[in-house]
Parts: sequence; structure tokens; C-alpha cells
Amino acid sequence: MGTGWQVRVGGVEDLDLVGPLWVAVHHRHCESMPELAPYVDDAETWRARRKLYEELLAKPDTLLLLAFVDDEPAGYGLTHVMRVADSWIEDTWRTGDRIGEIESLSVLPDYRGTGLGSELLDRLETHLHDLGVEDLILGALAGNADAIRLYERRGYQPTWLYLSKFAGRERNKR
Ligand SMILES: CC(C)(COP(=O)(O)OP(=O)(O)OC[C@H]1O[C@@H](n2cnc3c(N)ncnc32)[C@H](O)[C@@H]1OP(=O)(O)O)[C@@H](O)C(=O)NCCC(=O)NCCS
Repeated sequence: MGTGWQVRVGGVEDLDLVGPLWVAVHHRHCESMPELAPYVDDAETWRARRKLYEELLAKPDTLLLLAFVDDEPAGYGLTHVMRVADSWIEDTWRTGDRIGEIESLSVLPDYRGTGLGSELLDRLETHLHDLGVEDLILGALAGNADAIRLYERRGYQPTWLYLSKFAGRERNKR
């Protein structure tokens, strides 16, 4: 594949376009693990994400890619680079000094399964490789099996598992 979409580099000025694309990821999270409810709403999720992206885009080496189909936003990916000393990795694994994190990958439902997500991931990985960063991480919700399958096929292995016991879940049951 590889036709039918255009990919360009984005910046902080593009974050309004990214909002609905991130909210699509949040919806995937809610749908894939309903047992973990209650979830924050669309406005809350984007407020928190936007703040994170503004911080990441203020750092050197961060890359935001935006994909468009017929001039409509269809997906995005964002990667950034951190010092291993600022991560959970340093006390356990041997790596380089810098770690590349694939912070986000999203393709809107209508365009999924057409290769766009893989192309965005390719480009993010190439960016990190060009910076000399060879040690990569990304996070996924445990129940997001489709996305995890894609990442595993690309060489990522399950590494660190968070478990959660949130009080709101018990309150929901009552
Ligand atoms: C994960 C995602 C970015 C992949 O993008 P994509 O353009 O569908 O990916 P590609 O077409 O390049 O590759 C298809 C692969 O993606 C995975 N995939 C995940 N969700 C999928 C979906 N709804 N439809 C088809 N494939 C999907 C599968 O592994 C699939 O390969 P396989 O079914 O043959 O094993 C996209 O499906 C998406 O945005 N999903 C919802 C948000 C999300 O989960 N993001 C990742 C958060 S960690």
C-alpha cells in the first residue's frame, strides 16, 4: 500500500487537528477494557494529552507526523527521546544513554488495516535511528490486542506490566 494518504511533519500549531485522533485512541482504550471503567470523558482526555504533547514538542528530537486523506486528518504518530536515567529502564536493562519512546500512534477507524499505521511507525523509527537512538519503547493498554499484535510483529516485546486497583471501579459496582 502507500497510496491515498499524505504524511507531513506537524508542530504545536497542529494540536487542534490531533485532538480527535487522540480521542479515537481513548475510545479504543475504553472499548477494549470496559471492566476498567470509569474512564475520563473526551474533553478530559484531550486536555491532559494536549498538555503532554505541548511539553514533548518543546523538546529537541520530538517528531509529530500527521497523515491526511483528501486533506482530512486520518492519523498521527508522535515520538520523543529521553535519557535512560530518567526512565524505569536504567536499573534493569543494558541500553544506550537515550531511549526513543513511540508515545502515540493512531489511525481513524475508516482507514485502519490499510498500512497507514505501519508507515507512520516506520517513519518514527527511521527518525529515531537517524538520531542514533536504537533502544525503543512504547506503551499499550493490556487489552488492546490488535495494536499489541502489530507491535510484536515489528519486534517489540512485552516488558513492564502495570496493575491497577482504582477505587472508582468498586464504587461503580455498588
Ligand atoms: C494500531 C493502529 C495505529 C494501526 O494502524 P493501521 O493503519 O490499522 O495499521 P496497519 O494497516 O499498518 O496494520 C494493520 C495491523 O494493525 C493492527 N490493527 C489494530 N487495530 C486494527 C483495526 N481496527 N483494523 C485493522 N488492523 C488493526 C493489526 O495488528 C493489523 O494487522 P493484522 O490484523 O494483520 O495482525 C490503528 O489500528 C489504530 O489507530 N488503532 C486504535 C488506536 C490504537 O490502538 N492505537 C495504539 C495505541 S497503543
